[in-house]
Amino acid sequence: MAYVNENYLKLPGSYLFAEIARRVAAYKEAHPEADIIRLGIGDVTLPLPQASIKAMQKAVEEMGKKETFRGYGPEQGYDFLIDAIIEHNYTSRGLKVEHDEIFVSDGSKSDTGNIQEIFAEDNVVAITDPVYPVYLDTNVMAGRTGKLKDDGHFDGVVYLASNAENNFSPTIPSEHIDMLYLCCPNNPTGTTLSREALTKWVAYAKEHDTVILFDAAYAAYITEPDVPRSIYEIEGARDVAIEFRSFSKTAGFTGTRCGYTVIPKTVTAKTKDGKRQPLNPLWSRRHSTKYNGTAYIVQRGAEAIYTPEGQKEIKEHIAYYMENARIIREGLTKAGLTVYGGVNAPYIWLKTPNNMKSWDFFDKLLKEVSIVGTPGAGFGPCGEGYFRLTAFGDRNDTERAVERIKTKFSV
Ligand code: MLT
Repeated sequence: MAYVNENYLKLPGSYLFAEIARRVAAYKEAHPEADIIRLGIGDVTLPLPQASIKAMQKAVEEMGKKETFRGYGPEQGYDFLIDAIIEHNYTSRGLKVEHDEIFVSDGSKSDTGNIQEIFAEDNVVAITDPVYPVYLDTNVMAGRTGKLKDDGHFDGVVYLASNAENNFSPTIPSEHIDMLYLCCPNNPTGTTLSREALTKWVAYAKEHDTVILFDAAYAAYITEPDVPRSIYEIEGARDVAIEFRSFSKTAGFTGTRCGYTVIPKTVTAKTKDGKRQPLNPLWSRRHSTKYNGTAYIVQRGAEAIYTPEGQKEIKEHIAYYMENARIIREGLTKAGLTVYGGVNAPYIWLKTPNNMKSWDFFDKLLKEVSIVGTPGAGFGPCGEGYFRLTAFGDRNDTERAVERIKTKFSV
């Protein structure tokens, strides 16, 4: 008799973005004429940088010749990519990261979802509310939580409210926590944590023996000079923090898949008999057992974003999306809506007009102006009454969407 992992049964039926896709597909089928503008899932719309395309084409040629063909690569990633990552994202900022502290992967969704496997099942997890659903759902699947309660929270999880009242900078909880997920710039709210706030979290982690799981997938979108680009800018973070980075939003790799995780060898957690165990070798063991390396062709494409041509292109792409963010932010503000984010991140987090429930606003927006966004409640109970729009759309679509919202929902 095979038994199922009943933790899966604690989860709501489908993953947030799968549920949105399902609703939109049903609407489209019923209204094939609808001119739908999609500002829901944060998926890029600009093509890959030419520098990456050229590098990948060259890599394809290499794969077609016996002398240059490559089979299995190093699970942790090719040296050429790891060296480029360290030089451009860390050394150039005065930060120390060693070669064997970087693990190249197929993206931050997988890494932020899988990292919990190297932690004990009875660890207490803290997440912000609202939150990128992957952190929570994967811990539910792993049995690190109780059941879903009526208030929309899972038993056994510490939720850190992140809202306008606390300037989207959660306060330190009174309960003990073992694993803390932070996302900065934040998905979904598009806001950031200040250097001061991050310094407090690192101090907290040191004092309470907590590991910070820091998702910096949107770091390339930071425009304000004082916002940290990496948790390792904070003194002491190399002892307590794991950082996740992605080429998806940085360089348009959502469909190509490439990201990496940094685990300094100085980050440790306890064994039950009280010894300190570095996490780096555990992740290395997991990665080499369960992952066979990101495709050589893809890693060559990722490496190319660090060439002068690649850097120029990705900066232009990011500027394009951030101009979309400005258009949405300013347009909706003019319409009288309350908006957050969109300055250091490609997400705009708005309060629904007339305190409408998030999913009601989702349906209204889809039915009345054919726009798809993401209901805030899908990211956690504190997201109720909020709504997320992405700046990753096409410029013309973004402008049309803002006009449609202004016409219909000005307050
Ligand atoms: C989002 O829309 O939140 C992101 O696209 C999700 C992701 O990167 O997996």
